[in-house]
Amino acid sequence: TTTIEVGMLGLGTVGSGVVERLTRSATKIEQTQGIRLHLAAVVVNHLNAHRSVQLPIGTRLTDSLTNVVCDQQIQLIIEVMGTVATAKAAIVAALNQGKAVVTANKDLIATAGPELAALAKKRGCDLFYEASVAGGIPILRTLTDSYATDNVQSVSGIINGTANYILSAMTAGQSYEQALAAAQTAGYAEADPTNDVAGVDAAYKLMILSRFAFGQELTLSQIRPVGITALTAVDCQLAAENGWGVKLLAQIQQHVTGLYCRVAPVAIPTNQSLSQINGVQNAIVIQSEAIGTGLYTGPGAGSTATANSVLNDVLVAAKHLISDHQAVRNPEPAAPLTVARLDQ
Ligand code: HSE
Repeated sequence: TTTIEVGMLGLGTVGSGVVERLTRSATKIEQTQGIRLHLAAVVVNHLNAHRSVQLPIGTRLTDSLTNVVCDQQIQLIIEVMGTVATAKAAIVAALNQGKAVVTANKDLIATAGPELAALAKKRGCDLFYEASVAGGIPILRTLTDSYATDNVQSVSGIINGTANYILSAMTAGQSYEQALAAAQTAGYAEADPTNDVAGVDAAYKLMILSRFAFGQELTLSQIRPVGITALTAVDCQLAAENGWGVKLLAQIQQHVTGLYCRVAPVAIPTNQSLSQINGVQNAIVIQSEAIGTGLYTGPGAGSTATANSVLNDVLVAAKHLISDHQAVRNPEPAAPLTVARLDQ
């Protein structure tokens, strides 16, 4: 058995899930992979805050980021802080020291992914972020591996669990406020849920998907997402009575003239599969030349499912640290295409 020393930045919804999953899967990982993932240190903002999760014996809890990021023993950093500027600085520092990095930070990866990927490549380190898109669905891995020899034509999906939870709950009669509060309690929403309901979180995920599906960069201003804040329970119920499900849909299509993108609430006929995706479930439909239509569904948010994605990335990075080779999971940019909104 080889031990990999791991440091984690953050112990919120995802971080607590990682600790729990790590404890539960330690024996399996050791038996099947011959790897022991040792959580050496966890960084938190407030050392004395109340926590429901129990850290493994021997894990150091600290409020000093530098202490962990610069720890020479630590080979792999899990970033689950949820901020952008601090997380970026920490990831840059970790990569500069030759550490592998796994993050769930979609805001950061959507905006600074290529820059961080270039740094990771230069340093010969892994940078993985499967958990940043559609929590429990391994969609980035699927696009990287299963579509490597195919040609993606369009990607569309329900990629914000909170918004989908709210729309489903409103269809069942709850008010917007009740539904949002329940999504927050369940740990689906971001710490500040503004981006979830404004479509910005879905737009960030679409930016990441665009890289993996088309090698193309999208900006938030090209997408100009429309969220669900103007919708009410009555809208959702009326739609349902008339055979429609209201969904916050994120789409990118490749046309000969360029890429067309959109994030907006749409009414989908109830006999179509995306219309049946309810609650925290996410779903992504990929149209491609060879496979045709592929539908990928699973939980899009939540502590355990997201933590499992983080841990899978950790395991792949750990194997590379042992065999000393870097995986290619950060897509190379393609020649830029023109981008327009689907509805304009
Ligand atoms: N707040 C996000 C969502 C979490 O609801 O989908 C997963 O990215």
